[in-house]
Amino acid sequence: MFSVAVMAIIVTVCFGDVRQGQDCPNFEVPLLNSIDAPLVAKLDMAKLSSQLNYTFTKKYGKFSTTHKLKDETKQLNVIIEEKVKNVTMELTENLRTPTVTFTARDLKFDSNLIGKTLIFPNLIVNFDDGYDNTTGVFTAPYSGMYLLTVQLCPEMNDSIHAFIKVGNGKILADLNFRNNVGEHGPCVSSNGVDFLTKGDKAWVFCTHANSNGDVIYIGGHGNSFSGTLIHR
Ligand SMILES: *[C@@H]1O[C@H](CO)[C@@H](O)[C@H](O)[C@H]1NC(C)=O
Ligand SMILES: *[C@@H]1O[C@H](CO)[C@@H](O)[C@H](O)[C@H]1NC(C)=O
Ligand SMILES: *[C@@H]1O[C@H](CO)[C@@H](O)[C@H](O)[C@H]1NC(C)=O
Ligand SMILES: *[C@@H]1O[C@H](CO)[C@@H](O)[C@H](O)[C@H]1NC(C)=O
Repeated sequence: MFSVAVMAIIVTVCFGDVRQGQDCPNFEVPLLNSIDAPLVAKLDMAKLSSQLNYTFTKKYGKFSTTHKLKDETKQLNVIIEEKVKNVTMELTENLRTPTVTFTARDLKFDSNLIGKTLIFPNLIVNFDDGYDNTTGVFTAPYSGMYLLTVQLCPEMNDSIHAFIKVGNGKILADLNFRNNVGEHGPCVSSNGVDFLTKGDKAWVFCTHANSNGDVIYIGGHGNSFSGTLIHR
C-alpha cells in the first residue's frame, strides 16, 4: 500500500508540472523510457496520459471509470487515506484495555468452609460478566494482567486459611489469619497480580479453618472478592 502512496504522490506532482510545460524532475525513470527527452517540454498529453494509465493498469489493475488520470490519482489517494484510517483504528482497538472489573461481597455460607470454594453472591460491579456469583468462579474474558484481592473477617477467636487460586490451581494469594482482636473485626486481605489467558479461572479456596462451625463474621460487608484487568 505504501508503494501505491509514493506512486500516487509522484504522479500528482509530475502531472501538474508537465501541464505548465516545465520539466518533471521527480518522474520515475521507467515511465520516461519511451519519451523523447528533448521533447519533455512539448509532451503529447494523450501519449503521456495513456502511458501513465498503462503503468497504473499494469501495476494496480484496470480502472473501470473513464475519469482522467488526475481523478484516478485522487481516487487512489482516497483509498490510501481510508486504508490508513482502517489500520489506525485496528491498532487503537488492539491496544485499548477493555473494562473488566468485579467486586463480589458477602458470603453465601459462613460455616463448613474447609475444602470449599467461597461464594460471594452480591455483585457490586461485574463489568464483562467475568464473575459467576453462583459458583464463585471468575473466568478471564481477555488475556492480560489481572489484580485479584480477597478480604475475609474471621469471628473472634477463629482462624481461616484461604487462597486465591488461578488457572490449574496455582496459588496466587495466601490469606492466613486468626482473629484474637475483636468480635466485629478486623477483616484481613490478600492479593496478587498475574497474567491470565482468556478463559483462565480464578477463585477463593478455603484450605483450613479452626472448625467447621461458623468462623466468619458476616454482620458487616467486609467479606469480598474482587478483580480488575490492569492491561492486556
Ligand atoms: C486506461 O486503460 C484501460 C485499459 O488499458 C482503458 O480501458 C481505459 O479507457 C484507459 N483510461 C484512460 C483514462 O485512458
Ligand atoms: C475500511 O474498512 C471498511 C469497514 O470495515 C471497509 O468496508 C473498507 O473496505 C475498508 N477500506 C479499505 C481501503 O480497506
Ligand atoms: C447474582 O447476581 C445477580 C445480579 O446482581 C442477582 O440478581 C442474583 O440474585 C445473584 N445470585 C445469587 C446466587 O445471589
Ligand atoms: C475469645 O477467647 C478469649 C480467651 O480464651 C475469651 O476470653 C473470649 O470470651 C473469647 N471470645 C469469643 C467471642 O469467643
